[in-house]
Amino acid sequence: MIREVLRMGDPRLLQVARPVERFGTPELAGLLADLRDTMAHLNGAGLAAPQIGVSLRVVIFGVKANPRYPRAEAVPDTVLINPELEPLAADKEEDWEGCLSVPGMRGMVPRFRTLRYSGRDERGERFERTVEGFHARVVQHECDHLDGILYPMRVRDFRQFGFNEALFPGEALPPEE
Ligand code: NI
Repeated sequence: MIREVLRMGDPRLLQVARPVERFGTPELAGLLADLRDTMAHLNGAGLAAPQIGVSLRVVIFGVKANPRYPRAEAVPDTVLINPELEPLAADKEEDWEGCLSVPGMRGMVPRFRTLRYSGRDERGERFERTVEGFHARVVQHECDHLDGILYPMRVRDFRQFGFNEALFPGEALPPEE
């Protein structure tokens, strides 16, 4: 079912979400179906459960390669539950981000360039990946939602934050997260 995505200003987006304790339940399957339906409806790159008002540590993400926005590399469709992130280098790089909870805007956000993430899939199986670049950025953005952090809170230079049409007139932009 397509759910309403909460927008910045809603206090539910600022909560720290709690871990999933039981896997293989109808509740978890229903939550994941709703996240997928909602993300697909909005052509998003990722969505976290708190964005639809469910305070659990569940995110989904996935991006298909698109020549119209070459910096957004393909990211496999992923369900990540109870994630843990471990940066593999101290350096951060800045790039533009958008968020389904901050629609129509972009900001320049520093993120760790490379990291290892681990967590559970929808069956409760543990997995881990080592990633960099855009994939690493998407994971950091989504997992921030689980701690009540929206990307504008990480913008360092507010001259690089604004409305899509004003920042990038006429350009095709990568999907929001
Ligand atoms: Ni977001």
